[in-house]
Amino acid sequence: MRVGILGSGLMGGKLGTIFARAGHEVIFSYARSEQKLKQLARNAKGKAKAGTPLDAAQEADALLLAVHWSRINDVLNQTGDLSGKVIVTCSLPMNDDDTKLIIAHTSSGAEEFAKLVPKARVVSAFNTVPSEVLFGVFEARRKARRPSLVYCGDNSSSKKIAAELIRDIGFDPVDAGSLRIARYTEPFALLIAQLAYEGKGGPELAYRFEQFKK
Ligand SMILES: NC(=O)c1ccc[n+]([C@@H]2O[C@H](COP(=O)([O-])OP(=O)(O)OC[C@H]3O[C@@H](n4cnc5c(N)ncnc54)[C@H](OP(=O)(O)O)[C@@H]3O)[C@@H](O)[C@H]2O)c1
Repeated sequence: MRVGILGSGLMGGKLGTIFARAGHEVIFSYARSEQKLKQLARNAKGKAKAGTPLDAAQEADALLLAVHWSRINDVLNQTGDLSGKVIVTCSLPMNDDDTKLIIAHTSSGAEEFAKLVPKARVVSAFNTVPSEVLFGVFEARRKARRPSLVYCGDNSSSKKIAAELIRDIGFDPVDAGSLRIARYTEPFALLIAQLAYEGKGGPELAYRFEQFKK
């Protein structure tokens, strides 16, 4: 697939690198320096290049949205028309200092984002996992027991694409239902982060937490 990365920081940089190593064509976009995007593309050692959000969006089979909540409108101003595009979002609706969710319980970041791009097909995924564990999960992907990762969305063909990307990272994709379920997965993502960064086990704890159900 051609995968456009909108936001090439901790999540976008790592997920994009893994997508490229898994054989996808990746365009890294939206960082403060073009040099950083070029470096990411070189280090990915797959079919990857640097581009603008417009480049990333134009040819993409799937887009990964991985920016701070406060940057979403800025990104959307640069992508051009996203009608029909599959957008997998890991962005959480956090306040400026990342201390709390600013949308919760009666709606979710994923649902509010989908309202901004009504003709796109939005899937919520990857936000329940700290970026620190992603390379480890990818390296262990051939093991029989994979950690599960929940995703949700309203469109079945876009969910198939998201599930394929989730599998390529090394997780077992678990369809949690409609996009509305993000109301519950987004606060869960914060619980995971809390356990990962404040618990004794560090990020690895979140990885193990994903495996509890098995
Ligand atoms: N990190 C995690 O473990 C994690 C886990 C679950 C969910 N999330 C969610 O995923 C989303 C992304 O998180 P992240 O940790 O990947 O954030 P991040 O490392 O800060 O990455 C954000 C990206 O946006 C870019 N950016 C910020 N301001 C910009 C500007 N003015 N112009 C152009 N680019 C700009 C950054 O550029 P630079 O590269 O130049 O900094 C970076 O590439 C957030 O919504 C977060 O809540 C993160």
